[in-house]
Amino acid sequence: MRQYGWLSCIMIFLLASSCASEQKLVTVIDEALIFSEKQSLLMAEKYVGQEGVLPRSYVDGRDTYSDSRWWCSGFFPGVLWYVYENGKSPEVLKYAKSYTQRVEREKYTTDNHDVGFMLYCSFGNGLRLTGDETYKEVLLTGAKSLSTRYNPNVGLIKSWDHNKHIWQYPVIIDNMMNLELLLWAAKYSGDSAFVNMSVSHADKTMQHHFRPDYSSYHVVSYDTITGLPHRKQTHQGYADESSWSRGQSWGLYGYTYLYRELKDKRYLDQAINIADFLIAHPRMPEDYIPYWDYDAPDIPDTYRDVSAACIMASALIELSDFVDAKSARKYLNVAEKQIRTLASPAYTAKLGENGSFILKHSVGAYPLNSEVDVPLTYADYYYVEALTRLKRKLSDNQK
Ligand code: GLY
Repeated sequence: MRQYGWLSCIMIFLLASSCASEQKLVTVIDEALIFSEKQSLLMAEKYVGQEGVLPRSYVDGRDTYSDSRWWCSGFFPGVLWYVYENGKSPEVLKYAKSYTQRVEREKYTTDNHDVGFMLYCSFGNGLRLTGDETYKEVLLTGAKSLSTRYNPNVGLIKSWDHNKHIWQYPVIIDNMMNLELLLWAAKYSGDSAFVNMSVSHADKTMQHHFRPDYSSYHVVSYDTITGLPHRKQTHQGYADESSWSRGQSWGLYGYTYLYRELKDKRYLDQAINIADFLIAHPRMPEDYIPYWDYDAPDIPDTYRDVSAACIMASALIELSDFVDAKSARKYLNVAEKQIRTLASPAYTAKLGENGSFILKHSVGAYPLNSEVDVPLTYADYYYVEALTRLKRKLSDNQK
């Protein structure tokens, strides 16, 4: 994993000691994590006694929430796990366990692809941090449920069952995120079928979701007889041929962890190409917090999507482990800029405000006029993950 170890150390040292006029990066991260713990405790306390309820957003001055069926149900438990990892507060641990439990029934979900998000962010982090044996059964059952959505004739996991009149077999770029659960299940159970499905899904996505410039479509629907795409379009982006920002980040994150897990150089190259496409994008703002779609016609007079920035930052920090020192510096510089910006009052809420979410200004689905310029659980999740990853990198460097 750390084939560029010593170069990376020098580079991290330079990163940490640069910009003398700015607050030290480690201080920014520590303060952001302390704030995240306080804010998340307020969120956790809000829903005590409301069995099965999970936070979703804060829209027009009101809390919105869901049960475990919503694709985002695992993110708030995941926020609590990262906050616990950093602060080791017994109170946070208690809440992390109880909110994680609220998602358990999703291990039986077979009618959509979001099982990976739901279970790996909640139970997956819980297992990583506590070793709780009972979490393994939940994750393995969930992986088996997810794998029922794999059709060998198509070679991919089907994302959605709705809109059958439009899509025979829709696969969205977001689905790259669900493979991590399958890869865990392969390691735990020894069943290589989980790896084979993941590899096939990743390879076909690489072949059919991406354009020559490494931007990606949101939805690709496959013909179930030929196994080839019959439609390529968007659902949450500006246009079929545009680059929906969160989708680009999902792809980057997905191929980065696939390389971590499988060490297939093709996945590393794919992640590097996506990262380089995004970093050099002419409509990427200077602070690297993307607009909700890179091709939104009203840039710069439109919304940023903080969730896309958080996912990208977390992925870039991981990607920097696998590349040469020059590229690592480039990726970490971008991630640092994103984190410094997100940690500023422009994007971080005040304690007790913003419905007790950490970050403001994400976009769920602009064309559907749903959750536009609001806080979202997945922005908070990938933010605390990015903070944790960067903090670990800085501290590894000091050993
Ligand atoms: N997976 C749905 C989204 O990113 O909005």
